[in-house]
Amino acid sequence: MNLKKILITGGAGFIGSHLVRLFVNKYPDYKMVNLDKLTYAGNLANLTDIENAPNYEFIKGDIVDADFIHSLFKQYQFDAVIHLAAESHVDRSIASPMDFIMTNIVGTANLLNAAKANWTDLSSKLFYHVSTDEVYGSLGETGMFEETTPYDPRSPYSASKASSDHLVRAYYHTYKLPVVISNCSNNYGSHQFPEKLIPLFIHNIKNNKPLPVYGKGENIRDWLWVEDHARAIDVIFHKAKVGETYNIGGHNEWKNIDLIKVICKVMDKQLGRPEGTSEKLITYVTDRAGHDMRYAIDATKLKNELGWTPSLQFEEGIEKTIQWYLTNEEWLNNVTSGAYQHYYEKQYNNR
Ligand code: NAD
Ligand code: DAU
Repeated sequence: MNLKKILITGGAGFIGSHLVRLFVNKYPDYKMVNLDKLTYAGNLANLTDIENAPNYEFIKGDIVDADFIHSLFKQYQFDAVIHLAAESHVDRSIASPMDFIMTNIVGTANLLNAAKANWTDLSSKLFYHVSTDEVYGSLGETGMFEETTPYDPRSPYSASKASSDHLVRAYYHTYKLPVVISNCSNNYGSHQFPEKLIPLFIHNIKNNKPLPVYGKGENIRDWLWVEDHARAIDVIFHKAKVGETYNIGGHNEWKNIDLIKVICKVMDKQLGRPEGTSEKLITYVTDRAGHDMRYAIDATKLKNELGWTPSLQFEEGIEKTIQWYLTNEEWLNNVTSGAYQHYYEKQYNNR
């Protein structure tokens, strides 16, 4: 397939910005159109290194606006869509589920409808939906999520993502829209908004603020370097069979409290503080409502069929990540102040 004009939604966010950077640098013959509403989580400062590239264009817009999305498809005649735009934070979905229902479900439906209406020769098109392992629910002590694991979403966020996955598959089966879906585990790395565990804790340690550990800190997540996720999307986009689903994961399970202690140790070292200083900031707080216990991804299908494996060991990745946030103080200060300050303080300063 010779895919030329690609609509990437949510390209100013955490994962989207890594994906846009990878595609702009790796595929000079493609044109990447980044559509993003620039919510609190979207930030054009994530893309300053490629913003003037000839194969890149940014458009500010909302995927919930159906008329706008239809006219965009008409105007640009996209060959493919890689859809990442979403409300992505579980805690916010507990506080404000409707934002998630609108963007994640209605927004995805609008994109599917626009693709369906505008794509005539389906053989050369692709709608790639980027999703999460949270759609599979919560694991006990053993087992892993496989592509065939039944859906069992338990938060408004995961239910909205599960709903969007179902819509994408429904458009494949009903209208033959060429789609592919990937479900990925927890990402970490640079440019992640400091509301998610790792950047929030780095930010708080730096500022000597409490580290709010939910419940007993015993929940388990499977962490993947964000650039490895972007590489996986690249491989799936170019090699996947239409209609398929692929799990993406790091084979890298950590109990929250153990991960937090690693962050504390690396931060002490990088900040030149005596060992044990940051751990004193650990504060156990009320658990997240409906907190999923454990996620673990079996990514064997992606490895065996398309040859993808993670490239980076966690120990190296977390050191690089912490170093990035400490070196890019201005980025961290910008996203937690200015236009974002009200939002950030309301959510996080009183913990
Ligand atoms: P993010 O919150 O950092 O970025 C989301 C982006 O979408 C932002 O730039 C935001 O401005 C944009 N956006 C939000 N609502 C929009 C709307 N209505 N119209 C247009 N743009 C809008 O999220 P992320 O962590 O980069 O996640 C990207 C995608 O990957 C999401 O679909 C998420 O569900 C999925 N995912 C994330 C993870 C993770 O660990 N972060 C893991 C697996 C899957
Ligand atoms: O699994 C993929 C998902 O990973 C993505 O789909 C989501 O978009 C992404 O936000 C992430 O969801 P989590 O809820 O797992 O990530 P979060 O960073 O919010 O939390 C990670 C774990 O840390 C979780 O068990 C809750 C806990 N936690 C989180 C925060 C923010 C705390 O103990 N304290 C905190 O302050």
